[in-house]
Amino acid sequence: MIKVAPSILSADYINLQKSIEAVDQAGAEVLHIDVMDGLFVPAISYGPAWVKAIRPITQMELDCHLMIENPERYVDTFADNGADLIGVHVEATPHIHRALQMIKNKGVKAEVVINPGTPVSLIEPVLYLIDQVLVMTVNPGFGGQKFIPETISKIKQLNQLRNQNEDYDFTIEIDGGVNNQTVVKPYEAGADVAVAGSYVFGAENPAERVQAIKKATDF
Ligand code: DX5
Ligand code: ZN
Repeated sequence: MIKVAPSILSADYINLQKSIEAVDQAGAEVLHIDVMDGLFVPAISYGPAWVKAIRPITQMELDCHLMIENPERYVDTFADNGADLIGVHVEATPHIHRALQMIKNKGVKAEVVINPGTPVSLIEPVLYLIDQVLVMTVNPGFGGQKFIPETISKIKQLNQLRNQNEDYDFTIEIDGGVNNQTVVKPYEAGADVAVAGSYVFGAENPAERVQAIKKATDF
């Protein structure tokens, strides 16, 4: 069964605590926090202050997906504000190794993120150092986009690499266009965690949608 990480990007910001409590009680293991700077991606979302505000209200792992240029500038702040995992895009910095090391040095789980157009080979040199790879299954920047099935081959490739190399100890996460149907093939390919925004929070009953993703991968 896949772990579920609801993305608050699609939540009702005015009633955020209620939304978070609903998915927490439904058994979601991770809360996905999408940080956008208006440069790496067009949209601007929210920053470290939100992580600080959310931290005391849930035990879920706080997974901070930084869609920002030169994310190493903000690693320490996100870690100090309560992030459990920090994800940085390989496309957003010439210093991906340093950025990931900074995350590890803060005692936080380090995640490297790849866009749909980025090959796995680009992150091979840092795979020994990380706790999770996030394979984007849409182009980052917005919720509600359509899942790109061609990204599944990269999940298979990463799964093979970790099975063949005992130095690797990472989980695989997918993000974008995930629902109870699109989640099945990535799960079979080796994905461990599924981010879902609009499918969960766009529904009348977000808890049911968390359960639906879990049920679809209960085999
Ligand atoms: C997209 C974000 C996603 C987004 C997913 O840039 O990284 O986390 O919230 O939204 P859905 O599930 O609606 O595709
Ligand atoms: Zn995300």
